[in-house]
Amino acid sequence: MSSISIIGLGNMAGALAGRALAGGNAVEIIGRDRVKAKELAAALGGATVGTFGTAPAGHIVILAVPYASVLPVVAHYGDALAGKVIIDICNPIAPDLKGFATPDGSSAAHEVAKAVPASAHVVKAFNTVFGHILAPGRQLDVLFAGDDTRAKTSVSAFIESLGLRPLDAGGLEVARWLEAAGLLMISLANHGVGNFNFTLGVSILS
Ligand SMILES: NC(=O)c1ccc[n+]([C@@H]2O[C@H](COP(=O)([O-])OP(=O)(O)OC[C@H]3O[C@@H](n4cnc5c(N)ncnc54)[C@H](OP(=O)(O)O)[C@@H]3O)[C@@H](O)[C@H]2O)c1
Repeated sequence: MSSISIIGLGNMAGALAGRALAGGNAVEIIGRDRVKAKELAAALGGATVGTFGTAPAGHIVILAVPYASVLPVVAHYGDALAGKVIIDICNPIAPDLKGFATPDGSSAAHEVAKAVPASAHVVKAFNTVFGHILAPGRQLDVLFAGDDTRAKTSVSAFIESLGLRPLDAGGLEVARWLEAAGLLMISLANHGVGNFNFTLGVSILS
């Protein structure tokens, strides 16, 4: 069992929190609007509600906010994130859906890693899974990347607890390509697949 804090109250926060609770994890919901956070926690059942900006209860902290907000949120938390395993789930896609809002050559995960306390460890995960696909409890692949082995072990165990298959994609430099995969998925939805009811997985052939 893991202890998880989720910052954000939207689609991904709700989907991840639901699966995390079903998997027996301790879940803390945190939002800038405490009333909305309480409503989400009550709807989920079994989650606690944290205070935005104060030290999260969870060992793992999921940043479930848009890329435009993620660095301000991390800055707002400051040292309160010290020692935490931070999961960045952002798809920092530009409004024209043709590129990224991140600085050239960087990634959302790298920008988050630069902003968190030195004792915190960032793992990129869940950005290649659509929230509505995650919600119903299907078995899916979750690609993740990060530089700290212990942090990745924690995140991998957490992913397994959700009934999902964790697939280690490598170091944090790979986050850039996971984010590119997020853009690829949106492009597939808007072209060949024609809808968002699909997932990205790996078929391992014997
Ligand atoms: N949706 C997907 O299928 C999907 C898949 C993979 C990855 N992602 C990534 O997951 C992240 C969340 O996506 P989502 O679809 O869950 O978005 P969403 O439904 O729009 O929810 C975003 C949440 O972020 C909160 N937020 C925004 N700015 C904030 C700030 N400055 N301080 C505190 N909270 C703030 C919002 O708070 P309020 O409720 O107070 O407005 C809202 O609860 C994004 O980075 C996205 O790229 C999404």
